[in-house]
Amino acid sequence: MKVRTYDEIDPVDAFRLSVVAFGSAWDEATIGRVRSSDPRYLKEFALYAEERGRVLAQVVPLRFPVRLASGVEEVGGVAGVCSHPSVWGQGFAHRLMDAAHTRLRELGFRISTLTTSRNIRGYGVYAKMGYADLAPFRSAVRRVTGRTPPKGYRLRAASRPDVPAIHALYRTHTRKMLGWTERPAKFLEWSLRRRHDYLERFRVLVRGREVVGYLRTRPHEGVTMEEVVAPNFRDFRGAVTLMESRSRRDLATVNWITAEEDAARFRRLGYSVDGPIPDTTMALSLTDEIRTADLPRLFGGTSGRFVQYPTDDF
Ligand SMILES: CC(C)(COP(=O)(O)OP(=O)(O)OC[C@H]1O[C@@H](n2cnc3c(N)ncnc32)[C@H](O)[C@@H]1OP(=O)(O)O)[C@@H](O)C(=O)NCCC(=O)NCCS
Repeated sequence: MKVRTYDEIDPVDAFRLSVVAFGSAWDEATIGRVRSSDPRYLKEFALYAEERGRVLAQVVPLRFPVRLASGVEEVGGVAGVCSHPSVWGQGFAHRLMDAAHTRLRELGFRISTLTTSRNIRGYGVYAKMGYADLAPFRSAVRRVTGRTPPKGYRLRAASRPDVPAIHALYRTHTRKMLGWTERPAKFLEWSLRRRHDYLERFRVLVRGREVVGYLRTRPHEGVTMEEVVAPNFRDFRGAVTLMESRSRRDLATVNWITAEEDAARFRRLGYSVDGPIPDTTMALSLTDEIRTADLPRLFGGTSGRFVQYPTDDF
């Protein structure tokens, strides 16, 4: 098996592999925009396993800062892991992940992270490689009982000029949390370069004339709200009750609750918080200095301080 980078293979082979393994893929133009705008990607963009001229597996290594109990640290990430279904179980994904770990170690990272689902084959593969779950991801449900939203608030679609306010709210809301609190200020702009409709799911909460919160919504996928970010609890309640009043269904749902502070707020608003849901974020130590078993504590998973919102999914 040879390890190749994106520039060393035919981009059509990369596209074909992702289509057969995931059902969809980024085309060359999208990858070009991502590479030129988003510094989380390495210069290689992706690693591929090649065997007798066939491209059989892919791993996309990433780098980004997270906040650990020991301080802010840049860590590695792996995304886009897949192998051709005709060779599953033959170790291609495993060996290519090993190559990605070597690359991340060369860059000086002590930890590799990934997001996945406990529901899929990949979870068993990652667990076998030593990756550990960092924290429980939860969901919440509440029967919508016609609560009247507090006066003075409105929700509106988010647009590009809202990006700095969204980022500032996110930083304030997560200031006592650990994990994915270090989203770069330009992150949403990079995402907008990849997809011009990236903000479609975002709503901003306006009190008077000030933007005091934001959230994401996916009503067509059964998710009333996720990533409800409002540093002040009254504003948080305003956002949640406005979303309930807009809901066409009897039940309002919340996806991806990680931080205990968020769970407590939803409970206070009458939601039953349940989990763990199948989605999970895992991590592996790349050095003798840290034990993988310590990573849930370092990321705040055992103290309830861990946070990761869908915007930081990778
Ligand atoms: C997930 C995926 C990449 C795994 O690829 P793969 O080529 O089968 O993985 P490997 O053959 O390298 O398996 C790695 C190891 O896990 C073991 N393994 C495979 N499936 C397993 C399972 N369900 N539970 C536990 N171990 C498993 C293998 O025996 C192998 O062991 P070894 O290398 O230590 O001998 C592949 O199934 C895939 O592309 N899925 C679709 C895309 C996807 O869901 N990607 C993950 C996104 S998070």
